[in-house]
Amino acid sequence: MSENAVPPVRLRPDVLATPAYRQGAAPTKPGFKLSSNENPFAPLPGVLEAIARRAEQTNRYGAAAMPELRAMLAGFFGVSLDGVHLGAGSVAILYQLVQAAAGPGDEFVHAWPSFEAYPSLGLASGAVPVAVPLTARSEHDLDAMAAAVTERTRVVLLCTPNNPTGPAIRRADFDRFMAQVPRDVLVVLDEAYREFVTDPDAVRGEDVLRDHRNLVVLRTFSKAYGLAGLRIGYGVGDPAILGAAASVSIPLSVTGIAESAALASLAPEARAANADRIAELVTRRDALAAGLREQGIAVPAAQGNFVWIPETAPGEGGVPSALALAADFAEQGTLVRPFAGHGVRISVGEPESLPEVLRIVGAHRQQEPAPAMHPAPFRASAGTAASGG
Ligand SMILES: Cc1ncc(COP(=O)(O)O)c(C=O)c1O
Repeated sequence: MSENAVPPVRLRPDVLATPAYRQGAAPTKPGFKLSSNENPFAPLPGVLEAIARRAEQTNRYGAAAMPELRAMLAGFFGVSLDGVHLGAGSVAILYQLVQAAAGPGDEFVHAWPSFEAYPSLGLASGAVPVAVPLTARSEHDLDAMAAAVTERTRVVLLCTPNNPTGPAIRRADFDRFMAQVPRDVLVVLDEAYREFVTDPDAVRGEDVLRDHRNLVVLRTFSKAYGLAGLRIGYGVGDPAILGAAASVSIPLSVTGIAESAALASLAPEARAANADRIAELVTRRDALAAGLREQGIAVPAAQGNFVWIPETAPGEGGVPSALALAADFAEQGTLVRPFAGHGVRISVGEPESLPEVLRIVGAHRQQEPAPAMHPAPFRASAGTAASGG
């Protein structure tokens, strides 16, 4: 679809002015795709078998309420069945929650840079995003976020670990934040990367859900379970909040195949096998972060399946231009995700990608420092060029 095409019918000007969510580019040369925080492991054999079995019933809709899967997830969180809501990816539930809570002119608060879908979540309902810059350590500035909550705020989105920068929110900071937020404001704890977190001080949805009726925890099968292409995620929280999210959801959008794959992923043997894979990815992540730090790069705490290279003035622990570094990667067949004016996110991929990343970054930094292609004004709006994963 051409972005500048003139539509033949009357459409909403605010929608026309907003670029669509842009997925990470597909590779055009042999190399590594490290641009969408995907899992480099193919699904486990048992999961693939479950997908194949269920595919035979593709002429049927999936079961409406998917009680077996929800019951299993409810058990992990110690909540009742109606405290779990499934979505076609956790991003679907993000849209539903903002739409259910925030109408025209209402505000929702999020950190920035953070998940690139956030600024557009209010587009359908007319809600306004309020972006709060991260701290110098690339962490959520929770005091500033609490201060940004006004009479008009209906939702606060917390991303932990933060995509794209990596740090997780600490439990003590989360508790202090929740004490400042009015109890009638919905807080969403987006834990898409929770399974990769190794910081013992990080907040964990299960531990805090019971203390806050205004909290919804989001998780996904896309990242640690490697089912990104099947689209299944879930929210856990107050049944009335989740019921409202269900009311604005697109009916029947979670497929039976996704449900079967998720169920197979939660079988005890599959969870054990997957835990080994997660441990392997964490080892690779830590090695990648350590290798970059050895080169003098100030990589923030990396708690997801990705690392962050900040854009900084020469000699200040980053690269002068995120776009130039990403272009250099692409030239050599490896795709990474630049955030113009902020930095570059690199997903943890195949073992062979690690030395390649370190080599390309090292060679890039040997070159004359290029002038910043985007001089880093802080900017986050519904017009932010979003791109996937
Ligand atoms: C922070 C965060 N939340 C949610 C999502 C959405 O994941 P999915 O819709 O695949 O569950 C992503 C995907 O990259 C993400 O980074």
